[in-house]
Parts: sequence; C-alpha cells; structure tokens
Amino acid sequence: MKIYLQEKQMKCDLELITLKNLKNLEKKYKKRLKDLNFSCKNNSIEIINNKIFLGLASKRQEDLKIAFCLLVRKIKKTKFKSLQIHKKALNFEAIVEGLSLGVYEFTKYKSKEVKKEVLEINIIVEPTDFSTLNIDLKKYKSIYKNVNMVRDIVNTSAEDFTPLSMSEKAIKLAKENSLECKVYGESYLLKNDMNAMHAVGRASRHESQLIHLTYKPKNSKGVIVFVGKGLTYDSGGLSLKSGAGMINMKCDKGGGSAVLGLMSCLKDLNYEYEVHGIIGAVENMIGGDAFKPGDILRAKNKTTIEVRNTDAEGRLVLADCLCYAQDEVKNIDYIFDIATLTGACITALGSYTTAVMGHSEKLKKKIFKASKDSGELVGELPFNRYLFPIIKSNIADITNSTGSAGGSSILASMFLDRFIKKENKNKWLHFDIAGSAFNEKGWAYHYPGASGASVRLLLKFIKNLK
Ligand code: BES
Ligand code: ZN
Ligand code: ZN
Repeated sequence: MKIYLQEKQMKCDLELITLKNLKNLEKKYKKRLKDLNFSCKNNSIEIINNKIFLGLASKRQEDLKIAFCLLVRKIKKTKFKSLQIHKKALNFEAIVEGLSLGVYEFTKYKSKEVKKEVLEINIIVEPTDFSTLNIDLKKYKSIYKNVNMVRDIVNTSAEDFTPLSMSEKAIKLAKENSLECKVYGESYLLKNDMNAMHAVGRASRHESQLIHLTYKPKNSKGVIVFVGKGLTYDSGGLSLKSGAGMINMKCDKGGGSAVLGLMSCLKDLNYEYEVHGIIGAVENMIGGDAFKPGDILRAKNKTTIEVRNTDAEGRLVLADCLCYAQDEVKNIDYIFDIATLTGACITALGSYTTAVMGHSEKLKKKIFKASKDSGELVGELPFNRYLFPIIKSNIADITNSTGSAGGSSILASMFLDRFIKKENKNKWLHFDIAGSAFNEKGWAYHYPGASGASVRLLLKFIKNLK
C-alpha cells in the first residue's frame, strides 16, 4: 500500500464517502444503503459504483483508526487498486495509522503465494496544509513501517528467529539508521559477571546475545535507555511450561523487538535525545546444561539470586541487562525496561493493556499522557512497601519466584528494582507487555498475533518531552 498526499482531486478507482448518518445523502444512495442495512455506528462499508461508503458515527481517534482499518481490509478483498480520501476535518494521524496498521497481514508461512497488495491511497488536503502534512506523513510512515516490522519479528517462529537473528537484525537496522551497534556473546557475559543472563541461555544451542544500539543526535537534550527482554523462546526451562503455555512463547521476544522498532524510528523522527537500546536475546531451553531450581546465581551488581523457578527467566536476563545499562551509559535521564514478563499481568489487566510500574508518580503521569496520545492501553500496578520483603531468600539475597504470594507482576518488578541504582530509582519504569504484545485473535486494528506494543507509546513519550 502506498499513501500519497494530493492538493487536487485525482482519478481513482474508488472515492471514499464517510457518513455520520444518512440524512443529507442523495436519495438513490440513501435508499440503497438503507436496503443494505447500512449502519453508521457499526462502521458499515458498502461500494456502489465507484463510491465506497464508510459509516463513521464517531470521529474519536481510536474509532477512526478502527474504521480505516476495516476500510482497507475491505478494499484489499476487491479488484480496486486506488482510493481517494478527502481529509476534511478528520484527524490525519488516525487515518494514516488505521490504514497502515490495518493493512498488515502475516503470511510468511502460507504455502500459497499471497499476492502483494498494490493499493494506492490519495489523501486530498487543503493546499495550505500540504507541506506540513507531508512532513508528518513521512514520519508516520516510518513509525508504522517499524511497528509492522516488530510484528513480523515477533510473529516469526523461534526456529527462524534466534538470538543470533536478533543481533543480525540489530546490525542491519543500525546501518540503515545511523546507529552505533555493539553485540556480545556468552564469553562476554561470563567475563563481565552477567551470570544470571548467561544461565538462562546455557542449555540452548543458540548462543545468547547482548545487543547495545545507540542513537546520538547532534544536539542531545538528554539520555534515554530502553532495555528489552528478547527471549526468542521461553520453554520455561526445567520448570517446564505446560503444552498449552508454550504454544505462543515465540512472543517472549516482544520487548527486545519493540526496542529494535523504537531505535529504527529515531533518526526519521529527528528526535533530539540520545537513546540507548539494550536487548538481552536469549533462548530458555532444557538440556543437560540447563540451569536448575535451587541454583544460586550472582548478577552483575553482585546481588545473589536463588532460582526457585526457571520459568521466571525474564527478570534474570533483565537484571544483568539493567546493570549493564547503568554501568555503560552515563547521565541517564530515563531508563525503561520492556518485557513480556508475567502471565499474571494478563490476569490483572486483561489481554490488551500494558502494565506500568515504578516509583515516580510524575513519570507514570507522562506515560498515561503518552497512552492517551498513542491509543496504546496502559494501566498501573502499584507498589507498596509490604510486598518488597516477599522476594527475600533464606539462602541468597533474593529469589526469582515466590510461589503463591499473589501480585506476581508487581513482585517481578520489585525484583528488577533491586538492580536499579539509587540515583536512577525515579528515572526507571518497568513495562509488562505480556498481554499487549501478542494476541492470537487480534483486536481493534491489530491483526492476529503480534501488535508491536510499546513502540507507538514510547515514541509519543519522547515526543512529549520537549
Ligand atoms: N514469558 C513468561 C510470561 C508470559 C506469559 C508472557 C504469558 C506472555 C504470555 C514469563 O517468563 C513467565 O513464564 N513468567 C512466569 C513467572 C512465574 C514463574 C513466577 C509466569 O508468569 O507464570
Ligand atoms: Zn518464563
Ligand atoms: Zn518469559
């Protein structure tokens, strides 16, 4: 699909007519649509001659995105190749977002070749708005290209996307987007006391990869660090998941993949913050060399961890990556980790919502604003001081699993808190995307599978910083 801006009407296969209601419509169309049970509230879509009618009772941004997603999905099923849209009073960003995310499909594994859609969309705007909207359009295209790239990565099977694939992808994206890129293997992890991360990947035939991407603009206003959980597969390890619990665990690279997506947008968006993207790409498997419940691991900051459940592996990987980030990056203003960390997050907030946790109320407020602006759903899971002692271990400093204490998502976050330096406590937030990163059925304008969660959210966060 290609989207263009136009100052004048064009000849297109289809012309979009959006309808709030049927009141002022030409008689012949009104009758036809009524006969077809056309409903403006339910985003009905009907094609009559060369006009495509779209029911649009609400112009709220999220409603617009859903409507334009449905529109593009409908046109894809027809023979029509071009569409003209009059922007009028509609929100431009929502139109482009609905079309760009709505057109996405994941067909990599279909044996029958799916023909590439060649749909051309022309959005007619006022000549006075043309140049500003064209600049915006370029930026939006970069964002949605990268959100869809993240979806592709997360949807790709664990056999086809390994920790090494993650570092190769990072190197490629770095070249395309003028980023610095450092990649380290397991010998680096051992040499640098990153034993918690190392232990998780030990039984896999794929070597763990620590990836560090950096975006350095000319005039930086501050330093932001994103740390992503990149479990290319999570079998649970020796604390093996159930058969059903394992089916979609290729999605456990959702956080790391989102970091790749975020980093790939920064240059196109001209962001004026130095941004670091750090990814722990690891596969959690079983085998003779697997780490075990009962093992004690010493993380990079010397904290000792009693492993009580090898399926609580994400926090082990993130612990060392967070230490690495704070040792290697100077003058941090914001440090966020993004992870499909706990199933309990889905129980707490449902399938579509990202959980945010952290100490700073001010910072969380900024995230709620970014949530509103981006349309990504975010809910808070609150800390309290009585929960903190629960992660204590009798034999080591802390344990990675507390059994049936409840509040598992918050406890995971409190575990991570042990790896945040004092000076960074109020700069840190943890994002649990277990529910929002992947959904087998899809929802709203999200195709079944990966959603690219947190990319749009955190780009809005940076944009709003100014
Ligand atoms: N990757 C899973 C969390 C997950 C579950 C992500 C469902 C997406 C969908 C994580 O590593 C995990 O298994 N967490 C355990 C922690 C427990 C053992 C303390 C969980 O949530 O059950
Ligand atoms: Zn796990
Ligand atoms: Zn996991």
